[in-house]
Amino acid sequence: MTATEPEAEVVADGVPVTIDGVEILANKGELLIAAAERHGVYIPRFCYHPRMKPVGMCRMCLVEVDTGRGPGLQPSCMLPVSDGMTVLTESDVTKKAQDGVLEFLLINHPLDCPVCDKGGECPLQDQTMAFGPGESRFVEEKRHFKKPIPISDIVYLDRERCILCDRCTRFASEVAGDPLIHFQARGNQTEVNTFPDEPFSSYFSGNTVQICPVGALTAKPYRFKARPWDLSEIASTATLDAVGSRITVQSSRNQVLRYLGVDSDPVNWGWLSDKERFSFEAWNSDARLTQPLLRGDSLGNPTDEGDQLVAGSWALALTKVAEALDGVEPERIAVFGGARMTNEGQYAWAKLIKSVLRTDNVDAQLGDGAGGKALLSLPRTTIDAACTPGGTVVVLGADPKETHGSLFLRLRHAAENDGASIIEIAPRSSGLAPYATSSLYPVPGELDQLVDALGDPFGDAAGVDGDDIAAVSERLRNEESFTVVVGSGSLGDSPAVIERAVLRMAALFPNASFLPALHRGNVMGALDMGLAPGLLPGRQAVGPEAPGTWANTPAMEGLDTTAMLHLAEEGGIDVAILLGCDPLTDFPDAGLAERGFNKVSHLVAVDSLLNFTSTGADIVFPAAASATEVDGTFTNIEGRLSPISRKVTPPGTARADWMIAVEIAAQLGVDLGFIDIDELWADLAAASPLHSGVALGDVMAADTDGVLLTGTSIDSVEPPAVDVPNSSDLRLVVTRKMYDEGTILTHCPSLNQLAAGASASVNPTHFSALGFSEGDEVKVTSQSGSVTVPVISDPGVPAGAVAIEFNQPNASAASLLDSARTVTTVSLERVS
Ligand code: SF4
Ligand code: SF4
Ligand code: FES
Repeated sequence: MTATEPEAEVVADGVPVTIDGVEILANKGELLIAAAERHGVYIPRFCYHPRMKPVGMCRMCLVEVDTGRGPGLQPSCMLPVSDGMTVLTESDVTKKAQDGVLEFLLINHPLDCPVCDKGGECPLQDQTMAFGPGESRFVEEKRHFKKPIPISDIVYLDRERCILCDRCTRFASEVAGDPLIHFQARGNQTEVNTFPDEPFSSYFSGNTVQICPVGALTAKPYRFKARPWDLSEIASTATLDAVGSRITVQSSRNQVLRYLGVDSDPVNWGWLSDKERFSFEAWNSDARLTQPLLRGDSLGNPTDEGDQLVAGSWALALTKVAEALDGVEPERIAVFGGARMTNEGQYAWAKLIKSVLRTDNVDAQLGDGAGGKALLSLPRTTIDAACTPGGTVVVLGADPKETHGSLFLRLRHAAENDGASIIEIAPRSSGLAPYATSSLYPVPGELDQLVDALGDPFGDAAGVDGDDIAAVSERLRNEESFTVVVGSGSLGDSPAVIERAVLRMAALFPNASFLPALHRGNVMGALDMGLAPGLLPGRQAVGPEAPGTWANTPAMEGLDTTAMLHLAEEGGIDVAILLGCDPLTDFPDAGLAERGFNKVSHLVAVDSLLNFTSTGADIVFPAAASATEVDGTFTNIEGRLSPISRKVTPPGTARADWMIAVEIAAQLGVDLGFIDIDELWADLAAASPLHSGVALGDVMAADTDGVLLTGTSIDSVEPPAVDVPNSSDLRLVVTRKMYDEGTILTHCPSLNQLAAGASASVNPTHFSALGFSEGDEVKVTSQSGSVTVPVISDPGVPAGAVAIEFNQPNASAASLLDSARTVTTVSLERVS
């Protein structure tokens, strides 16, 4: 379990304790087991976990303690240190207790180690060897259970192996807030299990597999795949969401088999969402791109290959892309995506796009949330600062439970255990609603109006009660400082609504600092590297000066995704480049995306897996998976740089994104100036004042908590003008879910069945007024299209709104949206 142990704390105001004859200084209030471990004395344990409340369930940590009233056995995980305490961890009495506990634990234990996934990394095995009795006196029949049983789509339970340590049950209830796994029955029949019809369907279930000290809980993706001695591992960073959770990547025979959460104190505390934990499956997919693909008829061979994509050489693909780009005006080039790359891939592509191609038409955000310049103008804060005990966090248009799993766990912990107050201002009730002190749900399209009202409360605004607004306003004004976690808002609103809301929040509350919880993995890296209109590397605005070694700077400020697609629709884009993205399913206006891409003359994709949009490309370059196949760095929502480590070799001829940019530039006759990531980092440091003082080696160090980027930010940005919607029709809210039909998830066999499907959620007042019954099928029709989904009543949806989940298997909410409108209105019609 070393992957989850927290870092050693610094002793302050120490308490003298003598352990095995050696005096140490412990922290006041520290548990004896933790104090001993920090000083190199390992006390065996099963139930103790440093990130959960101690329960003293297993008694494995019994040691002989004398606090002045004579020696006695005490569980060291339940005992805070006290002045003058003496402790014997290896005395005969302690040893006898450990023998006894292990003998009891093994009475009913099956000891099927040869077929147990935990074998070789099992604390029960290890501690029996190190501290156990050597042989059992128990000859009676052991208890038996059916084994294993699935308790969710991902987790299997073998009750015979369970030692009833309470770690999984505590994690589910204390940490995740999903109390779906419990102790049942009594005495010898006690077992851990789920209740019938209530599977362990938690977004965080994989953490219980990691912390289970035996092989009772196993994860479907890893079962029987390898033994610990078959695995090699490397420290890295999870790349699927923007939190940048630290992980250990384990592989065997050039295949990644497991991610383990690492306890990074400032970031993820060892926890991962299941989506993050099992996302490596996508990179093992047979569907991985292994060589360049070219459209058959572009090769002058339409008779054999028609218009299919066919495998070609790198040389031919590079020649073709250079031909496509030859002589094209910068403003007729459009580049979409880039958020799944490492910082290095992003920098190389930013240099190619902005210095070589001289276009500023590039957008890594694909229409999710406020624009890059606005976000980079905000004062930034850290996750630790957001989770300050007793602090206040405004969650503005974000739902971290659905989009940033380990951030949700940190915020939930702060609210439940450290007295932090969460104020939720959201398009619909979020996963943090049960822990929020206030929840304000403005009607769609009026989030910014609500923020205005917080600055100057004058009564009801945006459909929210004036008293509630005044109470939150007063609270925020009286805080010395507070954090705003900014999300994408509703994808049914124009991005200008959330941009205006966040900029107004910054203007009205100088005591606020921000955590941009944006969708897509390394999206903050993409903004810091300049993969957004108007930005150059290092949070600098596009201007006449070319940064660092760059030869040029874009001739004019470019377009965001919506504007690029409108231009494409009018025939104004000759070459579009997709950097690991799928706008046809992931951009919140499917109609516009389709019309735009239909008019593009040449579509080039750089990706690891084909998707709906890149299937229509003329040239596809196979990219190495940034998560596990390249060395590089990642920038999280705090601006924290952390390492991404290459663990396996990419399939076929797939290459790192930055190498592809270098090769395309070379084909165009330009030397980007680097041939490895050390040289690339030096080039970046010359171009970006933000990165100039950072040594790549410091970021790449295995035991690092990362390097926090501070300083430079974009000068203040004017809030955009937003039309106040005046329609009284039902307005559409569209939000993202943890599981959807995204490209990576659809290639993960363990996760691709978990998208629950979209439904139309309606406030109970409208629900009954419209005469619906729960689960009725309704047709939701907007100006752009319609979908048919079940309807449900949900008090967390504002009155006058209909909420639908984005990109689900049964419905594409993107087909309802029109990015030209501030808000999308819909009608509902029952069809069954
Ligand atoms: Fe053996 Fe440990 Fe598995 Fe028990 S949990 S069967 S001791 S490897
Ligand atoms: Fe502990 Fe594992 Fe049993 Fe849960 S399943 S109580 S974590 S031994
Ligand atoms: Fe102390 Fe279990 S580790 S009682």
